[in-house]
Amino acid sequence: MLSLSYRFSSFAAYTPGPTTRSLSRRLLFLVPSQTLIFTNHSLCCLKPIKPNNNIRSSSSFSKDSPFSGLEDVFVSFLFGNRKATDVAHMVWKHVVQKGDTVIDATCGNGFDTLELLNLVVDDSHNGYVYALDIQKDALAKTSSLLEESINSYQKHVELFNICHSKMEEVVQRNSSVRLVAFNLGYLPGGDKEIITRSETTLQALEAAERIVIPGGLISIVVYVGHPGGREELETVETFAARMCVENWICCKLQMLNRAGAPIPIFLFRR
Ligand SMILES: C[S@@+](CC[C@H](N)C(=O)[O-])C[C@H]1O[C@@H](n2cnc3c(N)ncnc32)[C@H](O)[C@@H]1O
Repeated sequence: MLSLSYRFSSFAAYTPGPTTRSLSRRLLFLVPSQTLIFTNHSLCCLKPIKPNNNIRSSSSFSKDSPFSGLEDVFVSFLFGNRKATDVAHMVWKHVVQKGDTVIDATCGNGFDTLELLNLVVDDSHNGYVYALDIQKDALAKTSSLLEESINSYQKHVELFNICHSKMEEVVQRNSSVRLVAFNLGYLPGGDKEIITRSETTLQALEAAERIVIPGGLISIVVYVGHPGGREELETVETFAARMCVENWICCKLQMLNRAGAPIPIFLFRR
């Protein structure tokens, strides 16, 4: 089990800014269910996903948190002032470096792909984004967004009309993949019947676990407002909960009194 002190430190004890410092004094208290509760207008939690009891855990979390410096971003999400996708983008910014290779596992309308391209492409023309979607429509939308937003992006991105469970078939062997990003659910403005499904999402997460390098991240935004969304959340949580705590830091940000709000989940490989 994770220790109580780690649970707290994972949230607020790393060089907190003024907002976080005062919050930790005035608004936060710890409860045994591993949840941080805010006592003012918003009820929410930042919750490391409970590890499976069969997995060895450690009390020596000596390495710096990969989330250090993001405390204010997390707090503003929990208070309803920032969108889940913005939080994900800010975490990516923290982890991804120029020249990296990354995967957008659900490229949809292309906003995440565009964000990723801006993060990875460097002056020496390195950096690469694999963008995947099962819908041709989505790939067309991504393609036209990139075309109108970035000059000569083609060298740095490839779009694949493929299920993300098959990502290993398209990503070059020996690629050092820093980030695999999932933005689950259906295509906004598209067919709401075409959604990510628990079974293939799980296979895709397993593939991502195999290919993400140390110091890399699996980022997932989960939507629970559509049929199958809650089941998919459970699948993602169960997957994350069994990850080895020595190698992975897994957490989710969830607002308890906004049951339908999107849930960012981050699986960071130490
Ligand atoms: C919420 S949207 C993604 C939004 C997108 N990231 C953006 O920035 O606009 C979810 C996307 O996942 C795609 N999708 C559903 N199942 C998939 C699968 N098995 N593999 C890859 N993409 C899938 C859908 O077609 C849809 O475009």
